[in-house]
Amino acid sequence: MTRAKIAGIGYYVPEKVVTNQDLEKVMDTTDEWIQERTGITQRRYGNKYEETTATMGARAAEKAIERAGITKEDVDFIIFATLSPDYYFPGCGVLMQRELGITKTEIGALDIRNQCSGFIYGLSVADQFVRTGMYKNVLLVGAETHSYGLDFSTRGRNVTVIFGDGAGAVVLQPTESDQEGILTTNMHSDGTYAEKLAYINPGCHGGYHFEHNLNEEVDFGYPDVEYGGLFLTQHMMDHAQTFPNMEGQFVFKMAVQKFPEAIHEALQTAGLEKEDIDMFIPHQANLRISQFVQRQLGLKDEQVWNNIQRYGNTTAASIPIALSEAVEEGAVKEGDLVCLAAFGSGFTWGAALLRW
Ligand code: UT7
Repeated sequence: MTRAKIAGIGYYVPEKVVTNQDLEKVMDTTDEWIQERTGITQRRYGNKYEETTATMGARAAEKAIERAGITKEDVDFIIFATLSPDYYFPGCGVLMQRELGITKTEIGALDIRNQCSGFIYGLSVADQFVRTGMYKNVLLVGAETHSYGLDFSTRGRNVTVIFGDGAGAVVLQPTESDQEGILTTNMHSDGTYAEKLAYINPGCHGGYHFEHNLNEEVDFGYPDVEYGGLFLTQHMMDHAQTFPNMEGQFVFKMAVQKFPEAIHEALQTAGLEKEDIDMFIPHQANLRISQFVQRQLGLKDEQVWNNIQRYGNTTAASIPIALSEAVEEGAVKEGDLVCLAAFGSGFTWGAALLRW
């Protein structure tokens, strides 16, 4: 039976390190608060004019492609997951294709918008394409440049201190061996709480969800004209409505419930037990969430890869960055059962099990 395996993996993080102490200088926060609630001590930020979500994705992709022992021209499908794309459209898939210098047009480039679960969703999609024999070298990238769009005033502190920039990439290839590759993936969604963690404006919602789903009157300052003017208004900018918002405690509670559910489902599907897991690589949402899930699974510290302390939450990039680091540092060995899981905005969540 054909399975997909990760044949090459790599990551890229920008050089600029921003510590909690750096953030203390621009907003009312403290290193103590951030570390206690999230475990984060520093994160990386991209450099404008030099780094974007697509270019960082390309840097990570170059490493993954090299390690897979292929060339850029061998890539036959691109999947790009991000919530902080360079442009509203077109997506980062084609921008990264250009950045990589891939001129071949026989390949497709698919953009995935599943936030923190973007990599798991992308892995699942890639897995299906490889299993069916459709593609032989799928390049899957998760990348984010959060720092360009966050609110650095005290008003935005609950969100801003958490997020960081970076990219991770994998190349997926077919394998006939039953000793390696992706064993199972699952994906879940529940739109009930879409606005609990969301970046709403600018957007083409026209106020609909506030009137109909949320029963909330929100003034977006729409102009009194027949057509247009709804995507971005001066009012939105003046009233700080153009930043991500999060009901942190609500998200936290859902996360600690859904992470274990998705993992247990994956184990059950694969006919395995939690004791079989060698390495758990959670989406780096918050160290406290990862520790909670670790306890639920009964895993030792050395069986969980946490790097949120150094990079913050890099959303779609966090799993491939963490997996890449774990592999580079020899913490994931051939034959290991690796468990990946994520939960985030949407809400969307999911898990994957793979034999390294
Ligand atoms: O990856 C995507 C999924 N996202 C997540 O999984 C995030 C899940 N949620 C969380 O990680 C946590 O909810 C946070 C770390 C975001 C926040 O921690 P919390 O313990 O839930 O804090 P809170 O939002 O309930 O705020 C508690 C207090 C408030 O002050 P008052 O009202 O008690 O006086 C906030 O204003 O902490 C204040 N606060 C801060 N203080 C200093 C919020 N952010 C900050 C800050 N620095 N950065």
